[in-house]
Amino acid sequence: MSTSAPSHNQLDSKAEAWSALFSEPMSDLVKRYTSSVFFDKRMWQADIQGSLAHAEMLSAQKIIAAEDFASIQKGMAQITAEIEAGTFEWKLDLEDVHLNIEARLTQLVGDAGKRLHTGRSRNDQVATDVRLWLRSEIDLIEGLLKELQRSLVDVAAKNVDVILPGFTHLQVAQPVSFGHHMLAYVEMFKRDAERMLDVRKRVNVLPLGSAALAGTTYPLDRERVAKTLGMEGVSQNSLDGVSDRDFAIEFTAAASLCMVHVSRLSEELIIWMSQNFGFIKIADRFTTGSSIMPQKKNPDVPELARGKTGRVVGHLMGLITLMKGQPLAYNKDNQEDKEPLFDTVDTLKDTLRIFAEMIGGQLNPASGIKEGGITVNAENMRAAALKGYATATDLADYLVKKGLPFRDAHETVAHAVKLATMKGVDLTDLPLAELQAFNPNIEADVFEALSLEGSLNARNTLGGTAPAQVRAQLAKHHARLA
Ligand code: ARG
Repeated sequence: MSTSAPSHNQLDSKAEAWSALFSEPMSDLVKRYTSSVFFDKRMWQADIQGSLAHAEMLSAQKIIAAEDFASIQKGMAQITAEIEAGTFEWKLDLEDVHLNIEARLTQLVGDAGKRLHTGRSRNDQVATDVRLWLRSEIDLIEGLLKELQRSLVDVAAKNVDVILPGFTHLQVAQPVSFGHHMLAYVEMFKRDAERMLDVRKRVNVLPLGSAALAGTTYPLDRERVAKTLGMEGVSQNSLDGVSDRDFAIEFTAAASLCMVHVSRLSEELIIWMSQNFGFIKIADRFTTGSSIMPQKKNPDVPELARGKTGRVVGHLMGLITLMKGQPLAYNKDNQEDKEPLFDTVDTLKDTLRIFAEMIGGQLNPASGIKEGGITVNAENMRAAALKGYATATDLADYLVKKGLPFRDAHETVAHAVKLATMKGVDLTDLPLAELQAFNPNIEADVFEALSLEGSLNARNTLGGTAPAQVRAQLAKHHARLA
């Protein structure tokens, strides 16, 4: 007795993809619950790219005929055109991007379409797609991180000699160059970019060929597919190949850390914009007014970025928890990797784009100059640095140079600050005679040491805030980011 399977020219629903075994259809609720097409369709390019590389190899290995590969290519070209034109019909019934594209392919080219899935499973297919998709997103993010660094470097270059109080514990500590302060963030975003490129190496590994979990009986050439897809390696264990999502977790961890840097910067921008500080302004297009208080300009963009940091860190928690209880190999749990990953990418990219413009401004094509970045109020910064005895350490260092042990110098200066505080004046306002009462070695040159400029210039160690050091760092960044 011959069992003839019903011959379908197309898959209309996923029940038909695994067919005969099932005796009842899925309820609409379960369909919605299990389907991913409405979010994973954004990986369609990666899906087609992966399928074409697989089909090319199948044909080179004579697993499918060259004509079948040609038909698959033709079909995929048409599908690409349809998706780009917005005429492709995504079907919930077909669960995910993979089944949707495969079904349409089969509808367009018949049996050749049905041969595409030879030696492949959706398990290794989806792992490959996510990696291909994430790889190109990482490249975009790396570019955006460079843009943001350039903006910060531009602002730094213009403000090397602008002095503001540096803080520890948010208490005035020592004066620093505003350029130096901006370059601190450049270092953070530089590390973020390095981390992204490091993660990329582990993203850029091919799981395809792992099939469902154990490998496949067909003589696949996995290295060939990796080469076609520009991947740096091939996964070495099929069970790990289909189930590994470390790369997504690593990426989200790198993204979280990057958002934390954005959030720290946001916090400073918000403080600096407050009336009590008045250090900077950001352009109006990044602020909003209040519906009740007419005088308000609120720093919504930095506040939101600070808030969205929580969301991205949340995705990291979601992804890492997603994996913790999973036995080998693929489990449907893994479908839950996509939304957090997608949202992490979207949030990070938007944030980086906005910050690059908010800090550095927008290129005016007419003048060739960037306009509308942050405005620095150097006078307010200077006035703040003159409050709070920011150069007290300089007086201590001055005394050390005159032969006093540092701990004694520290104590002497504490007395001087106490006196100045009582009198309500700055250390530089104390007459020389009064300073000399604390230590007879103090001479008139103390006032230069106590000046903001003197204080900065004295910190001329590598990585210090002396303008000469800041300029040296700027030159390095300029060369690196050119
Ligand atoms: N949509 C699925 C996912 O995102 C594709 C893989 C499905 N594999 C399976 N055996 N059900 O993970």
